[in-house]
Amino acid sequence: MAAKKLAFFLVSLAAVAAAPASCEEGNSTEFIRRCCEATRYPRLCFNSMAGYASLVQGSPVQVAQLATNLTLGRISGVASRVELLRHGASGRKAAALSDCAEALGDAADQAQRTAAELAGLGAAVGPEVAWRVSNAQTWMSAALTNEETCTDGFERVGPWPIKAEVCRRVRRVKHFTSNALALVNNLVATH
Ligand SMILES: *[C@@H]1O[C@H](CO)[C@@H](O)[C@H](O)[C@H]1NC(C)=O
Ligand SMILES: *[C@@H]1O[C@H](CO)[C@@H](O)[C@H](O)[C@H]1NC(C)=O
Repeated sequence: MAAKKLAFFLVSLAAVAAAPASCEEGNSTEFIRRCCEATRYPRLCFNSMAGYASLVQGSPVQVAQLATNLTLGRISGVASRVELLRHGASGRKAAALSDCAEALGDAADQAQRTAAELAGLGAAVGPEVAWRVSNAQTWMSAALTNEETCTDGFERVGPWPIKAEVCRRVRRVKHFTSNALALVNNLVATH
């Protein structure tokens, strides 16, 4: 339990290593670019969100919400893929895929909860705002930890093309998750 808490903390720290520059006004596209400067993978951040600039309307909450929505979609996509691969495997490989599918299912649930907290920010006042942002941070950090759990589970599986594929896909999902977490963390500065 203590180790899991520590992992949480370290993952969160790593995810926000980039300085939290606040996103400033500009047109919607420029706004997204500025927000993305506070993330660890700014190019991925910008490229994945620029097409939705009109949804964001210069709002840091909307940027965090969009990043969370995109992250949820990515986690769900990889979770389905792993679920599919699981049926063709056996022994230790099947166990690793099965644990990974479960961890990704939890991560998807946590990204969903993050989205719900952010959606609730619209009507929140007073201390509820800080409370919801803090919950959103906790859920997104937990999602990152679960993604880590998925790949850790393959440590005892030798070289295998499916292992390589899953690890590659999950690494990319982790980048999306780290970015979404940084944009949620950015709300602490803006609220
Ligand atoms: C937004 O600003 C950038 C840089 O200032 C500019 O290149 C781009 O054309 C602008 N886009 C819109 C839709 O105004
Ligand atoms: C995020 O997803 C929710 C639920 O599908 C939707 O209501 C909301 O408009 C989306 N927001 C953004 C900024 O993509």
